[in-house]
Amino acid sequence: METFETIFSRVSTRDFNDKEVSAELIERILQAGMSAPVGRARYDTLHITVVKDKAFLDGVTELAKDTSPRARAPFYGAKTLIVVSSKMSESPAIEYSNVACVIENMALAARALGVASVYLWAFVKPLESAPALLAKLSLPEGFTPVSALAIGYSDTPLGVFDKPRHSIEVNRI
Ligand SMILES: Cc1cc2nc3c(=O)[nH]c(=O)nc-3n(C[C@H](O)[C@H](O)[C@H](O)COP(=O)(O)O)c2cc1C
Repeated sequence: METFETIFSRVSTRDFNDKEVSAELIERILQAGMSAPVGRARYDTLHITVVKDKAFLDGVTELAKDTSPRARAPFYGAKTLIVVSSKMSESPAIEYSNVACVIENMALAARALGVASVYLWAFVKPLESAPALLAKLSLPEGFTPVSALAIGYSDTPLGVFDKPRHSIEVNRI
């Protein structure tokens, strides 16, 4: 896909089917995440976990089941979750920007590869009160999960767009 077509065609998917993303495509998506800009180039403050563990996905789904009105939240049936964690004390809130850059790069790469995705934030909070589930992530000491990208496929074909689907107000000075 051409770069702008990829950017315009990235869309959140919330109806994943059971088809798995291949190891090769996951690797490409991770490489895109690792190419993101990170404040002061502190890539060592970030950690990526590829989650396929059904017990983890089902456990968090059970925990979060009353926190969203959306069907099949928080993972919408996705079989693969890419969790991005960070050390949390480098500079106020910079970790959220770093993680967002990594996740957006992965979302764009996924779209270019025909893989559906959705940026996920809401599942992290309920996880805080479930240390046994959190431990399943096997994070290195000092890392906290911040957000994730769920990836997979959908029976609904991904659209191709040649212009933005959303707008943000702009002023010029
Ligand atoms: C920081 C952030 C957190 C998000 N958290 C969630 C989430 O927890 N659950 C969810 O279904 N979508 C989540 N989204 C996806 C947004 O709802 C979605 O990007 C937005 O509605 C625009 O739709 P689009 O992605 O299809 O263009 C999140 C997106 C961002 C950037």
